[in-house]
Amino acid sequence: MVSQLTDAWARKFYYLRLSVTDVCNFRCTYCLPDGYKPHGVANKSFLSLDEIRRVTRAFAAAGTEKVRLTGGEPSLRRDFTDIIAAVRENASLRQIAVTTNGYRMARDVQQWRDAGLTAINVSVDSLDARQFYAITGQDKFRQVMDGIDAAFAAGFERVKVNTVLMRDVNHHQLGTFLAWIKTRPIQLRFIELMETGEGSELFRQRHVSGMVIRDQLLERGWIHQIRQRSDGPAQVFCHPDYQGEIGLIMPYEKDFCASCNRLRVSSIGNLHLCLFGDGGIPLRDLLANDQQQGELQARISQALAGKKQTHFLHQGNTGITQNLSYIGG
Ligand code: GTP
Ligand code: 5AD
Ligand code: SF4
Repeated sequence: MVSQLTDAWARKFYYLRLSVTDVCNFRCTYCLPDGYKPHGVANKSFLSLDEIRRVTRAFAAAGTEKVRLTGGEPSLRRDFTDIIAAVRENASLRQIAVTTNGYRMARDVQQWRDAGLTAINVSVDSLDARQFYAITGQDKFRQVMDGIDAAFAAGFERVKVNTVLMRDVNHHQLGTFLAWIKTRPIQLRFIELMETGEGSELFRQRHVSGMVIRDQLLERGWIHQIRQRSDGPAQVFCHPDYQGEIGLIMPYEKDFCASCNRLRVSSIGNLHLCLFGDGGIPLRDLLANDQQQGELQARISQALAGKKQTHFLHQGNTGITQNLSYIGG
């Protein structure tokens, strides 16, 4: 299908990131160091199953091929499996993915797969159980590892793992991560720490460029792959002796935005055109009944026409993003 979701810079947006909750049970130092706090969104006011059905139907009708469910921690919703099934009703979608902290995976991943989930990204910032606890505030390293095994057992051929790169925390542990993916079909992506509203101090202390990893990979014989459309923001590296791959997500590098292919809808139904600095365009008033779909599609296309070529940082600003758990990462 030809996507109606094209911006003034000829980028096509076939990928929707849909946040289904802001709530998270982890306290990652770079995201929710003090844990989740209600922030003006009353608990019950996240998009309902019907609203999720309507918003994904409108995006699918306009040419979206992939929906990623995010949060917060999406699997904390009791109806999470029903959400997957509702999104699955859109036959034109090629992928339904989730980004999760892995907490519920060992228990539920088979059920998610049966409901139609096709891809999983899970956060693992350390392969040392104690350090994992120190970063996430949850002593769940084993449970998350079991969850990854359970995903393979449930039939997922590949799993992506997100590791936020932090100076003196994990930036010197490349060898440990590489050993882990030697015999596992995991794409491990190092994500440059992004500066959030509350995370400026951590950013100053811990931000390190993904180029550090890139140089080490090249020295060790890893090969930079040619970009695939499915790579999203990651630059991917492979090695013939490894089953796994490494991805680097470096939002502060120039040209990062040229490959932007995604739109975001927050858990309260606001459309965000960029992870960095936009207030969000409300869609929720058009999610009340099925008859509003045309109007909804029109609002989305119109908003997209105003998408900027590049994000704040590259326009000479600070590049601070909102807390990622509030706009779905
Ligand atoms: P795929 O769908 O598998 O390509 O994964 P993804 O990298 O898009 O999704 P995931 O939820 O695993 O996100 C990984 C990290 O990349 C998170 O920290 C996101 O916030 C970040 N990220 C995703 N999309 C963007 C983007 O458009 N801009 C920036 N700066 N960062 C992004
Ligand atoms: N910088 C970089 N990545 C972040 N994430 C959350 N907050 C930040 C940040 N400040 C990542 C998590 C998860 C993904 C959804 O977002 O590690 O993998
Ligand atoms: Fe929760 Fe993900 Fe934020 Fe960690 S990064 S606190 S798991 S939303």
